[in-house]
Amino acid sequence: MLDKPNTMSSFWMPFTANRDFLREPRMIHSAEWMYYTSSDGRQIMDGTAGLWCVNAGHRDPLIVEAVQKQVHELDYAPNFQFAHPQAFELSGKLTAMMPEGMSHAFFTNSGSESVDTALKIALHYHRMRGDSARTRLIGRERGYHGTGFGGISVGGIVKNRMHFGTLLTGVDHMRHTHDLDRNAFSRGCPAHGAELADDLERIVALHDASTIAAVIVEPMAGSTGVLLPPNGYLQRLREICDHHGILLIFDEVITAFGRLGAATAAEYFGVKPDIITTAKGLTNGVIPMGAVIVSDDIYNSAMENADAPIELFHGYTYSANPVSCAAALAALESYEQNDLFRRAALLSQPWEDQLHSLKGLPNVIDIRNLGLVGAIELAPREGAPGARAYEAMKRAWDAGIMIRVTGDIIALSPPLIISEPEIIKLVQTLGEVLAELP
Ligand SMILES: Cc1ncc(COP(=O)(O)O)c(C=O)c1O
Repeated sequence: MLDKPNTMSSFWMPFTANRDFLREPRMIHSAEWMYYTSSDGRQIMDGTAGLWCVNAGHRDPLIVEAVQKQVHELDYAPNFQFAHPQAFELSGKLTAMMPEGMSHAFFTNSGSESVDTALKIALHYHRMRGDSARTRLIGRERGYHGTGFGGISVGGIVKNRMHFGTLLTGVDHMRHTHDLDRNAFSRGCPAHGAELADDLERIVALHDASTIAAVIVEPMAGSTGVLLPPNGYLQRLREICDHHGILLIFDEVITAFGRLGAATAAEYFGVKPDIITTAKGLTNGVIPMGAVIVSDDIYNSAMENADAPIELFHGYTYSANPVSCAAALAALESYEQNDLFRRAALLSQPWEDQLHSLKGLPNVIDIRNLGLVGAIELAPREGAPGARAYEAMKRAWDAGIMIRVTGDIIALSPPLIISEPEIIKLVQTLGEVLAELP
């Protein structure tokens, strides 16, 4: 076995056009702050913070040193019936950044696991309170909640669902909020569409509220192509959930840790959910880790109403493992020391102005932005949806910037350390790519 040749196809790449990649690989060798170095020695600006996770920039020394130190001291310890101090320290620091009254964290290893954990906690909550008919989970069309069976069931991206059987039962979906006819080229949240939250009332009327456990939405949908909540939409969703005793879960795997210029989207929009899922920026992407933050009511209810000494039969071997905790503690420290959330808030205006300067380029049918997130939607090529943006991604790599595409939407989400000249460079380079793109 040892002499088996290392062919590149041994690695089945995730969410990748594997066959095409092997013909024309885009290989990354190293990274520092805003830049990757490709294996052919070129500097590539990170326009996407990796996959929306490297908020403090690459190889932040604070995080690198914390991880190195932790591995030397305590490499692993179980958190089932035993624990180590960093897990408690991190829970305290993390929940202090969350909305008031959300002071308990359950640790996972990814966004997908955070979502599945949140859905399970919602079901558990109702059952432990004797409201066990509440089992339905409501997501939204075009939602992305990772790739676990829970996440793809409540998620609403067709390709992520269609190949995988019948998924979870008892799931329904609200309509998505993307409406180019009314909202194209909005700056910040779009004006039209708050009434789409009333779609939850339609679902309640169909199934009865007494059967619905929770609604999960991304407060700002990222991976599906940056769909921004219409003004007032999230507030309305909160009111409807309250009215019917339905838990509201915000999937903040992308939005937590400064992406919108605040610690969470909940804080940014002034809407408090019952559960927040996080991952990605929690460790600045350095070590896989996620966290689910729950309201005091949910935690206290589990402590009071559990039917066994173990209150929640759920957890992962690596939940709150010491090295992840060290990375997360250092990442949160770095965000605070460098005031990165405020920096993102301050940069959001020049970011918006730069992005909207691309209006008028060929095939650009929408530009949208919020915090340090941006999207440029392209008209699809006749009979080849997604092909135009995919080609833009490849050409952008050749031109020295990393962008991310979903369908025909280009998404941008740079590390929060980006400077104004770098914003200009990123957008100008993208503009040059789009100007030449057939
Ligand atoms: C909103 C949201 N939820 C969940 C996930 C899944 O996270 P992971 O890839 O860490 O499982 C993502 C990833 O992009 C996400 O954007």
